[in-house]
Amino acid sequence: LHNGLGKTPPMGWNSWNHFGCNIDELTVKETAEALVSTGLAALGYNYLNVDDCWAEMKRGSEGELTARAATFPSGIKALADFVHEKGLKFGIYSDAGYFTCEKQPGSLGYEEQDAETFASWGIDYLKYDNCYTDGSKPELRYPIMQEALAKTGRKIFFSICEWGVDDPAEWAPDVGNSWRTTGDITDTWKSMTTIADLNDRWASFAGPGGWNDPDMLEVGNGGMTIDEYRSHFSIWALMKAPLILGCDLRDMSNDTLEIITNKEVISVNQDSLGIQGRKVCKKGPEECHEIWAGPLSLKRTAVVIWNRCEGDADIEVSWQEISLHPSTRVTIRDLWKHEYWSGVYNESIVVSVAPHGAEMFILSPGWSSLPKQVLAAVFDT
Ligand code: GLA
Repeated sequence: LHNGLGKTPPMGWNSWNHFGCNIDELTVKETAEALVSTGLAALGYNYLNVDDCWAEMKRGSEGELTARAATFPSGIKALADFVHEKGLKFGIYSDAGYFTCEKQPGSLGYEEQDAETFASWGIDYLKYDNCYTDGSKPELRYPIMQEALAKTGRKIFFSICEWGVDDPAEWAPDVGNSWRTTGDITDTWKSMTTIADLNDRWASFAGPGGWNDPDMLEVGNGGMTIDEYRSHFSIWALMKAPLILGCDLRDMSNDTLEIITNKEVISVNQDSLGIQGRKVCKKGPEECHEIWAGPLSLKRTAVVIWNRCEGDADIEVSWQEISLHPSTRVTIRDLWKHEYWSGVYNESIVVSVAPHGAEMFILSPGWSSLPKQVLAAVFDT
Protein backbone atom coordinates (compact mmCIF):
# COMPACT_ATOMS: atom_id res chain seq x y z
CA LEU A 1 0.00 0.00 0.00
CA HIS A 2 1.47 3.34 -0.98
CA ASN A 3 0.63 5.37 2.11
CA GLY A 4 4.24 6.26 2.84
CA LEU A 5 4.53 3.62 5.58
CA GLY A 6 6.30 0.29 5.75
CA LYS A 7 9.14 1.15 3.37
CA THR A 8 10.97 -1.52 5.36
CA PRO A 9 9.23 -4.20 7.45
CA PRO A 10 7.71 -2.83 10.66
CA MET A 11 9.47 -3.54 13.95
CA GLY A 12 8.02 -3.47 17.43
CA TRP A 13 6.16 -5.50 20.02
CA ASN A 14 2.65 -6.95 20.32
CA SER A 15 0.89 -8.23 23.41
CA TRP A 16 -0.71 -11.38 21.98
CA ASN A 17 1.96 -14.10 21.86
CA HIS A 18 2.90 -13.75 25.50
CA PHE A 19 -0.09 -12.18 27.25
CA GLY A 20 -3.12 -13.14 25.16
CA CYS A 21 -6.15 -11.56 26.82
CA ASN A 22 -4.21 -10.99 30.01
CA ILE A 23 -3.14 -7.51 29.03
CA ASP A 24 -3.60 -4.25 30.92
CA GLU A 25 -2.39 -0.71 30.87
CA LEU A 26 0.34 -1.16 33.50
CA THR A 27 1.90 -3.99 31.48
CA VAL A 28 1.77 -1.84 28.36
CA LYS A 29 3.44 1.07 30.14
CA GLU A 30 6.14 -1.13 31.60
CA THR A 31 6.70 -2.62 28.15
CA ALA A 32 7.09 0.87 26.69
CA GLU A 33 9.73 1.58 29.31
CA ALA A 34 11.44 -1.74 28.64
CA LEU A 35 11.56 -1.07 24.89
CA VAL A 36 13.53 2.05 25.64
CA SER A 37 15.71 0.88 28.55
CA THR A 38 16.83 -2.34 26.83
CA GLY A 39 17.93 -0.40 23.74
CA LEU A 40 15.37 -2.17 21.55
CA ALA A 41 13.67 1.08 20.56
CA ALA A 42 16.97 2.54 19.40
CA LEU A 43 17.46 -0.51 17.17
CA GLY A 44 14.18 0.24 15.39
CA TYR A 45 11.58 -1.62 17.45
CA ASN A 46 9.29 1.37 17.68
CA TYR A 47 5.71 0.10 17.41
CA LEU A 48 4.06 -0.93 20.66
CA ASN A 49 0.88 -2.76 19.73
CA VAL A 50 -1.99 -3.89 21.91
CA ASP A 51 -3.80 -6.89 20.46
CA ASP A 52 -7.28 -8.25 21.24
CA CYS A 53 -9.07 -7.67 24.57
CA TRP A 54 -8.51 -3.95 25.06
CA ALA A 55 -12.18 -2.90 24.55
CA GLU A 56 -15.45 -3.23 26.44
CA MET A 57 -17.65 -6.00 25.10
CA LYS A 58 -20.32 -3.48 24.11
CA ARG A 59 -20.04 -0.21 22.22
CA GLY A 60 -20.93 3.04 24.02
CA SER A 61 -24.21 4.95 23.64
CA GLU A 62 -22.95 6.69 20.48
CA GLY A 63 -21.80 3.42 18.96
CA GLU A 64 -18.20 4.15 19.89
CA LEU A 65 -15.54 1.63 20.95
CA THR A 66 -14.44 2.17 24.53
CA ALA A 67 -11.47 0.92 26.50
CA ARG A 68 -12.13 -1.93 28.94
CA ALA A 69 -12.47 -0.09 32.25
CA ALA A 70 -11.24 -2.96 34.39
CA THR A 71 -7.89 -3.25 32.60
CA PHE A 72 -7.43 0.07 30.75
CA PRO A 73 -8.95 2.53 33.26
CA SER A 74 -7.14 5.59 31.89
CA GLY A 75 -8.41 4.99 28.37
CA ILE A 76 -6.55 4.44 25.15
CA LYS A 77 -5.81 8.10 24.39
CA ALA A 78 -3.90 8.51 27.66
CA LEU A 79 -2.01 5.30 27.01
CA ALA A 80 -1.12 6.37 23.46
CA ASP A 81 0.12 9.69 24.86
CA PHE A 82 2.30 7.85 27.36
CA VAL A 83 3.75 5.65 24.63
CA HIS A 84 4.35 8.62 22.33
CA GLU A 85 6.18 10.45 25.10
CA LYS A 86 8.63 7.56 25.17
CA GLY A 87 9.33 8.24 21.50
CA LEU A 88 7.39 5.16 20.37
CA LYS A 89 4.40 4.57 18.14
CA PHE A 90 1.19 2.98 19.35
CA GLY A 91 -0.84 0.28 17.66
CA ILE A 92 -4.20 -1.26 18.31
CA TYR A 93 -6.36 -4.12 17.06
CA SER A 94 -9.80 -4.56 15.54
CA ASP A 95 -11.60 -6.90 13.19
CA ALA A 96 -13.30 -6.91 9.78
CA GLY A 97 -16.28 -8.76 11.23
CA TYR A 98 -19.01 -8.37 13.84
CA PHE A 99 -16.67 -9.39 16.67
CA THR A 100 -12.96 -9.82 17.20
CA CYS A 101 -11.68 -13.34 17.78
CA GLU A 102 -12.12 -12.74 21.53
CA LYS A 103 -15.62 -11.36 21.04
CA GLN A 104 -15.16 -7.65 21.61
CA PRO A 105 -17.04 -5.52 19.04
CA GLY A 106 -15.69 -5.75 15.49
CA SER A 107 -15.52 -2.86 13.05
CA LEU A 108 -17.67 -4.28 10.24
CA GLY A 109 -20.25 -1.58 9.49
CA TYR A 110 -18.44 0.87 11.82
CA GLU A 111 -15.33 1.42 9.74
CA GLU A 112 -15.50 5.22 9.49
CA GLN A 113 -16.47 5.76 13.09
CA ASP A 114 -13.77 3.42 14.38
CA ALA A 115 -11.09 4.84 12.09
CA GLU A 116 -11.95 8.33 13.39
CA THR A 117 -11.82 7.07 16.96
CA PHE A 118 -8.42 5.48 16.36
CA ALA A 119 -7.07 8.63 14.70
CA SER A 120 -8.38 10.82 17.53
CA TRP A 121 -6.57 8.61 20.06
CA GLY A 122 -3.31 8.92 18.11
CA ILE A 123 -3.15 5.36 16.84
CA ASP A 124 -0.25 4.66 14.43
CA TYR A 125 -0.83 1.00 13.51
CA LEU A 126 -3.98 -1.07 13.12
CA LYS A 127 -3.95 -4.85 13.11
CA TYR A 128 -7.22 -5.87 11.50
CA ASP A 129 -8.39 -9.44 12.07
CA ASN A 130 -10.91 -11.64 10.25
CA CYS A 131 -13.11 -13.35 12.86
CA TYR A 132 -16.96 -13.44 12.91
CA THR A 133 -17.40 -11.99 9.45
CA ASP A 134 -20.57 -11.79 7.35
CA GLY A 135 -19.08 -14.43 5.05
CA SER A 136 -18.21 -11.99 2.28
CA LYS A 137 -14.76 -12.04 0.73
CA PRO A 138 -12.01 -10.32 2.71
CA GLU A 139 -10.93 -8.42 -0.37
CA LEU A 140 -14.28 -6.62 -0.16
CA ARG A 141 -14.16 -5.85 3.57
CA TYR A 142 -10.52 -4.81 4.11
CA PRO A 143 -10.51 -1.93 1.60
CA ILE A 144 -13.41 -0.30 3.48
CA MET A 145 -11.24 0.09 6.56
CA GLN A 146 -8.22 1.09 4.51
CA GLU A 147 -10.20 3.91 2.91
CA ALA A 148 -11.63 4.95 6.27
CA LEU A 149 -8.12 5.15 7.73
CA ALA A 150 -6.89 7.17 4.75
CA LYS A 151 -9.80 9.58 5.20
CA THR A 152 -8.73 10.44 8.74
CA GLY A 153 -5.56 12.01 7.38
CA ARG A 154 -3.46 10.25 10.04
CA LYS A 155 -0.69 7.94 8.91
CA ILE A 156 -1.73 4.52 10.21
CA PHE A 157 0.14 1.35 9.29
CA PHE A 158 -2.51 -1.13 8.12
CA SER A 159 -1.76 -4.74 9.09
CA ILE A 160 -4.11 -7.22 7.44
CA CYS A 161 -4.61 -10.26 9.65
CA GLU A 162 -6.52 -12.60 7.38
CA TRP A 163 -4.43 -15.76 8.11
CA GLY A 164 -3.84 -16.43 4.42
CA VAL A 165 -7.31 -17.90 3.88
CA ASP A 166 -8.06 -16.06 0.66
CA ASP A 167 -4.49 -15.80 -0.70
CA PRO A 168 -4.10 -12.23 0.53
CA ALA A 169 -0.76 -11.76 -1.22
CA GLU A 170 -2.79 -11.61 -4.43
CA TRP A 171 -5.01 -8.71 -3.40
CA ALA A 172 -3.58 -7.15 -0.24
CA PRO A 173 -0.56 -5.30 -1.68
CA ASP A 174 -2.90 -2.46 -2.73
CA VAL A 175 -4.83 -2.53 0.55
CA GLY A 176 -2.41 -3.06 3.42
CA ASN A 177 1.18 -2.57 4.53
CA SER A 178 1.39 -6.25 5.51
CA TRP A 179 -0.80 -9.31 5.28
CA ARG A 180 -0.73 -12.55 7.19
CA THR A 181 0.05 -15.55 4.99
CA THR A 182 -0.69 -18.26 7.57
CA GLY A 183 -2.69 -19.26 10.63
CA ASP A 184 -1.44 -18.38 14.10
CA ILE A 185 2.08 -19.23 15.13
CA THR A 186 2.63 -21.21 18.32
CA ASP A 187 5.84 -21.36 20.30
CA THR A 188 7.07 -24.65 18.82
CA TRP A 189 9.69 -25.74 16.30
CA LYS A 190 7.00 -27.49 14.24
CA SER A 191 4.78 -24.42 13.98
CA MET A 192 7.68 -22.09 13.23
CA THR A 193 9.15 -24.26 10.45
CA THR A 194 5.74 -24.91 8.87
CA ILE A 195 4.94 -21.22 8.83
CA ALA A 196 8.30 -20.31 7.32
CA ASP A 197 7.58 -22.66 4.41
CA LEU A 198 4.05 -21.37 3.90
CA ASN A 199 5.22 -17.78 3.87
CA ASP A 200 7.99 -18.58 1.41
CA ARG A 201 5.45 -19.37 -1.33
CA TRP A 202 4.46 -15.71 -1.55
CA ALA A 203 7.95 -14.19 -1.65
CA SER A 204 7.53 -12.45 -4.98
CA PHE A 205 4.59 -10.37 -3.68
CA ALA A 206 6.52 -8.56 -0.94
CA GLY A 207 8.29 -5.25 -1.28
CA PRO A 208 8.58 -1.74 0.14
CA GLY A 209 5.13 -0.67 1.34
CA GLY A 210 3.69 -4.20 1.64
CA TRP A 211 5.09 -7.30 3.35
CA ASN A 212 4.17 -10.94 3.77
CA ASP A 213 3.48 -11.53 7.46
CA PRO A 214 4.27 -15.02 8.79
CA ASP A 215 3.00 -13.87 12.23
CA MET A 216 4.83 -12.46 15.20
CA LEU A 217 8.01 -13.62 16.86
CA GLU A 218 8.00 -16.21 19.64
CA VAL A 219 11.66 -15.63 20.57
CA GLY A 220 11.93 -15.60 24.36
CA ASN A 221 8.63 -17.29 25.16
CA GLY A 222 10.29 -20.54 26.23
CA GLY A 223 8.92 -23.20 23.86
CA MET A 224 12.00 -23.47 21.63
CA THR A 225 15.73 -23.87 22.21
CA ILE A 226 18.20 -21.04 21.75
CA ASP A 227 19.33 -22.53 18.41
CA GLU A 228 15.71 -22.76 17.28
CA TYR A 229 15.01 -19.18 18.26
CA ARG A 230 18.12 -18.06 16.38
CA SER A 231 16.80 -19.89 13.32
CA HIS A 232 13.39 -18.28 13.81
CA PHE A 233 14.88 -14.79 14.01
CA SER A 234 17.31 -15.36 11.11
CA ILE A 235 14.63 -16.65 8.75
CA TRP A 236 12.05 -14.01 9.70
CA ALA A 237 14.68 -11.33 9.10
CA LEU A 238 15.69 -12.80 5.74
CA MET A 239 12.03 -13.18 4.68
CA LYS A 240 11.51 -9.47 5.32
CA ALA A 241 8.85 -10.37 7.84
CA PRO A 242 7.59 -7.78 10.30
CA LEU A 243 9.85 -8.11 13.34
CA ILE A 244 7.16 -7.85 15.98
CA LEU A 245 8.45 -9.19 19.28
CA GLY A 246 6.11 -11.30 21.36
CA CYS A 247 7.86 -12.05 24.65
CA ASP A 248 7.72 -10.32 28.01
CA LEU A 249 10.25 -7.53 27.51
CA ARG A 250 10.36 -6.81 31.23
CA ASP A 251 11.87 -10.19 31.95
CA MET A 252 14.19 -11.50 29.23
CA SER A 253 17.18 -13.82 29.40
CA ASN A 254 20.51 -12.64 28.01
CA ASP A 255 20.15 -15.19 25.22
CA THR A 256 16.82 -13.70 24.17
CA LEU A 257 18.17 -10.19 24.26
CA GLU A 258 21.24 -11.17 22.28
CA ILE A 259 19.08 -12.68 19.54
CA ILE A 260 16.61 -9.85 19.13
CA THR A 261 19.24 -7.12 19.37
CA ASN A 262 21.47 -8.58 16.66
CA LYS A 263 21.99 -5.42 14.60
CA GLU A 264 23.51 -7.24 11.67
CA VAL A 265 20.55 -9.58 11.30
CA ILE A 266 18.18 -6.65 11.71
CA SER A 267 20.04 -4.79 8.97
CA VAL A 268 19.24 -7.59 6.54
CA ASN A 269 15.55 -7.29 7.42
CA GLN A 270 15.65 -3.51 7.03
CA ASP A 271 17.69 -3.44 3.82
CA SER A 272 16.48 -0.77 1.41
CA LEU A 273 15.96 -3.16 -1.52
CA GLY A 274 13.17 -4.92 0.35
CA ILE A 275 13.45 -8.21 -1.52
CA GLN A 276 12.19 -11.23 0.40
CA GLY A 277 14.84 -13.94 0.71
CA ARG A 278 13.69 -17.44 -0.21
CA LYS A 279 14.44 -21.07 0.26
CA VAL A 280 16.68 -21.78 -2.72
CA CYS A 281 17.77 -25.32 -2.04
CA LYS A 282 17.09 -28.39 0.11
CA LYS A 283 19.66 -31.13 0.42
CA GLY A 284 21.17 -33.73 2.69
CA PRO A 285 19.85 -37.19 3.45
CA GLU A 286 16.31 -36.12 4.26
CA GLU A 287 16.45 -32.81 2.46
CA CYS A 288 16.54 -31.08 5.81
CA HIS A 289 19.66 -29.02 5.06
CA GLU A 290 18.29 -25.82 3.62
CA ILE A 291 19.83 -22.80 1.95
CA TRP A 292 17.81 -19.60 2.06
CA ALA A 293 19.10 -16.50 0.31
CA GLY A 294 18.20 -13.17 -1.18
CA PRO A 295 19.75 -10.06 -2.66
CA LEU A 296 20.61 -7.00 -0.61
CA SER A 297 21.51 -3.48 -1.64
CA LEU A 298 25.09 -2.82 -2.88
CA LYS A 299 25.07 -6.13 -4.79
CA ARG A 300 25.42 -8.08 -1.56
CA THR A 301 23.73 -11.42 -0.86
CA ALA A 302 22.22 -12.56 2.44
CA VAL A 303 22.43 -16.29 3.11
CA VAL A 304 20.93 -18.42 5.86
CA ILE A 305 22.11 -22.00 6.15
CA TRP A 306 19.46 -23.80 8.13
CA ASN A 307 19.94 -27.26 9.57
CA ARG A 308 16.46 -28.68 10.09
CA CYS A 309 17.90 -32.17 10.72
CA GLU A 310 18.48 -33.73 14.11
CA GLY A 311 22.29 -34.01 13.84
CA ASP A 312 25.27 -31.67 13.36
CA ALA A 313 26.05 -31.06 9.73
CA ASP A 314 28.64 -29.57 7.42
CA ILE A 315 26.54 -27.95 4.73
CA GLU A 316 27.91 -26.77 1.41
CA VAL A 317 26.59 -23.69 -0.33
CA SER A 318 27.50 -23.27 -3.96
CA TRP A 319 27.35 -19.88 -5.66
CA GLN A 320 25.01 -21.36 -8.23
CA GLU A 321 22.44 -22.08 -5.54
CA ILE A 322 22.45 -18.48 -4.39
CA SER A 323 22.45 -16.96 -7.88
CA LEU A 324 26.07 -15.83 -7.97
CA HIS A 325 28.43 -16.55 -10.83
CA PRO A 326 30.91 -19.20 -9.64
CA SER A 327 33.85 -16.89 -10.27
CA THR A 328 32.44 -14.08 -8.11
CA ARG A 329 34.88 -13.35 -5.32
CA VAL A 330 33.29 -12.23 -2.07
CA THR A 331 34.09 -11.39 1.51
CA ILE A 332 32.03 -13.21 4.07
CA ARG A 333 30.60 -11.66 7.20
CA ASP A 334 29.21 -14.00 9.86
CA LEU A 335 26.20 -12.20 11.34
CA TRP A 336 25.97 -14.32 14.50
CA LYS A 337 29.67 -14.48 15.34
CA HIS A 338 30.12 -10.85 14.27
CA GLU A 339 33.30 -11.49 12.37
CA TYR A 340 34.71 -11.67 8.85
CA TRP A 341 36.07 -14.90 7.47
CA SER A 342 39.67 -14.34 6.54
CA GLY A 343 40.28 -14.32 2.82
CA VAL A 344 38.01 -14.02 -0.21
CA TYR A 345 35.91 -16.85 -1.58
CA ASN A 346 34.44 -18.04 -4.84
CA GLU A 347 32.41 -21.04 -6.07
CA SER A 348 31.29 -22.46 -2.73
CA ILE A 349 31.77 -22.63 1.02
CA VAL A 350 31.08 -25.23 3.68
CA VAL A 351 29.55 -24.29 7.01
CA SER A 352 28.94 -26.41 10.09
CA VAL A 353 25.53 -25.90 11.59
CA ALA A 354 24.08 -27.24 14.83
CA PRO A 355 20.87 -29.30 14.70
CA HIS A 356 17.87 -26.96 14.36
CA GLY A 357 20.34 -24.10 14.14
CA ALA A 358 21.00 -21.54 11.45
CA GLU A 359 24.08 -19.62 10.41
CA MET A 360 23.69 -16.32 8.62
CA PHE A 361 26.08 -14.44 6.37
CA ILE A 362 26.39 -11.45 4.11
CA LEU A 363 28.49 -12.03 1.00
CA SER A 364 29.91 -8.87 -0.52
CA PRO A 365 31.65 -8.60 -3.88
CA GLY A 366 33.78 -5.59 -4.68
CA TRP A 367 35.84 -6.20 -1.56
CA SER A 368 38.65 -3.95 -2.75
CA SER A 369 36.50 -0.94 -1.88
CA LEU A 370 35.95 -2.05 1.70
CA PRO A 371 37.17 0.19 4.52
CA LYS A 372 40.70 -0.39 5.81
CA GLN A 373 39.77 -1.99 9.10
CA VAL A 374 37.56 -4.49 7.27
CA LEU A 375 40.35 -5.38 4.84
CA ALA A 376 42.68 -5.79 7.79
CA ALA A 377 40.24 -8.24 9.33
CA VAL A 378 39.74 -10.12 6.09
CA PHE A 379 43.39 -10.39 5.14
CA ASP A 380 44.70 -10.61 8.65
CA THR A 381 47.28 -7.88 8.03
C1 GLA B 1 -6.31 -14.17 15.75
C2 GLA B 1 -4.99 -13.58 15.24
C3 GLA B 1 -3.99 -13.55 16.37
C4 GLA B 1 -4.55 -12.72 17.52
C5 GLA B 1 -5.89 -13.29 17.96
C6 GLA B 1 -6.58 -12.39 18.98
O1 GLA B 1 -6.18 -15.52 16.10
O2 GLA B 1 -4.51 -14.33 14.16
O3 GLA B 1 -2.77 -12.99 15.93
O4 GLA B 1 -4.70 -11.38 17.12
O5 GLA B 1 -6.78 -13.44 16.86
O6 GLA B 1 -7.82 -12.87 19.36
